[in-house]
Amino acid sequence: MTAPNMDVLVSLSKRRGFIFQSSEIYGGTGSCWDYGPLGAELKQNIKRVWWRDFVQQRADMVGLDASILMHATVWKASGHVDNFTDPMVDCRECKHRFRSDQLDEMAWLHFCPATKGNKFTIPAGEPCKHCGATRTLCPHCGKGELTAPRQFNLMFKTFMGPVEEDAAVTYLRPETAQGIFVNFDNVLQSMRLKLPFGVGQIGKAFRNEITPGNFIFRSREFEQMEIEYFVNPNDRVDGRPADEAVHDQWIEACRAWFVRYGVAADNMKLHEHDTAELAHYSKRTVDILYRFPMGWSELMGIANRTDFDLKQHSKFSGKSLTYFDEERKEHIVPFVIEPSAGVDRALLAFLLDAYREEEVRGEKRVVLRFHRELAPIKIAVLPLLKKRPEIVATAHDLRARLARQWTTVYDDTAAIGRLYRRQDEVGTPYCVTVDVKTVGDREKNEAGDGRVTIRERDSMEQIRVPIADLDTVFARLMGETAWSEVAAAYPRAES
Ligand code: GAP
Repeated sequence: MTAPNMDVLVSLSKRRGFIFQSSEIYGGTGSCWDYGPLGAELKQNIKRVWWRDFVQQRADMVGLDASILMHATVWKASGHVDNFTDPMVDCRECKHRFRSDQLDEMAWLHFCPATKGNKFTIPAGEPCKHCGATRTLCPHCGKGELTAPRQFNLMFKTFMGPVEEDAAVTYLRPETAQGIFVNFDNVLQSMRLKLPFGVGQIGKAFRNEITPGNFIFRSREFEQMEIEYFVNPNDRVDGRPADEAVHDQWIEACRAWFVRYGVAADNMKLHEHDTAELAHYSKRTVDILYRFPMGWSELMGIANRTDFDLKQHSKFSGKSLTYFDEERKEHIVPFVIEPSAGVDRALLAFLLDAYREEEVRGEKRVVLRFHRELAPIKIAVLPLLKKRPEIVATAHDLRARLARQWTTVYDDTAAIGRLYRRQDEVGTPYCVTVDVKTVGDREKNEAGDGRVTIRERDSMEQIRVPIADLDTVFARLMGETAWSEVAAAYPRAES
């Protein structure tokens, strides 16, 4: 299977209501994205399964929903005011702006003196084949000198209250994590927790990225799913310091989570940060990289933030943020392991991995093979003939009945083959078709058999199922039961 290129995905996302460019009618922003009806469902599903698997189902986890605007000192204490910067350079000719640390990762435009100034686009990091030159000028226009790098803080500044003065300055949070650290003691005391325990949070984060791009991969407004998992660094797990062993456990748990919901294991790999790459708070950070169309890039990171954040907030707030270790009768500052994932990047990886182009009876079929829990629509109810009122009425009734438990749509706007293809293209795992045999034919005095056809997306197999069985059948299909097992109990329908 060849992964789609980004343009294919951008176009499908727009055409089928997954993702639109923000403020498109005004020319768009290029750095923010709006999730359409199906994208909103997909995003909700990703967040729901993450919250369920990591927060609700674990005895050692609780959840939090902290505010986006926080006391300005939070960002001083966390180091974001001083350190959350990227080095920025500008082209003196075309005025394009770049992150200087990313220049060598970009293809570059070159007017080659060895070929009478012919224009070439040269792959990232490579010299010109003809003259041997390496890039020194602007990679975009190929002509302009670049300015010296300047540090640019990525936080969005705003003002709390009606007066725009220095004392009122605050920031839109660039990560959700700090909301957890500043609430450490509130959560600990109110929930009477014992180490190790974690706090999960999902929410918006904002970064004034110098070079947003690659669709929803890097935008200025995005969502994070973050966990701060607190451990006692004096404890030992599997003969190792607890923070180090638990760090490895979380790396594996995160990797396995993506596999569980459909990302191919060989489309991910781990990247260990070297000392130069480590954030100011981190003892060790491992990224899970995904094979995005533009190359291996960060899907999420899992960092050992040590006791840096709790100690900083304690210092700046004057409040003790410690834990009493009953066994050793001492107050300690826990270490924290932080699995931090971007919702939008997860969504992009799930979309890419689900995308297939297949040939069916000589025609191209585009199908999104989403895990059933992620699929935006679970069931589509389709009337075979929209001119037959009994068929249409039965289909509407079925939609209403199934929609009580699963996201279900009704569609009669095309012929059945076309309707199936449309649902394939948005990843709907099951279609239910109501036909003449279901309702009977009064003119011919034929009674209906009360059965409908269920079609499965991936195999395209179809079975005839009594309407009375539908709730049980779908409860099994949406649970752990395989299609083949359910289908074995019913007669096949012709496709
Ligand atoms: N609290 C740690 C933290 O925020 P990070 O590596 O800066 O670490 C974590 O961000 C995750 O958030 C990334 O792995 C990525 O999935 C997502 N993310 C970060 N910046 C993003 C952006 N500009 N657009 C979309 N997602 C982003």
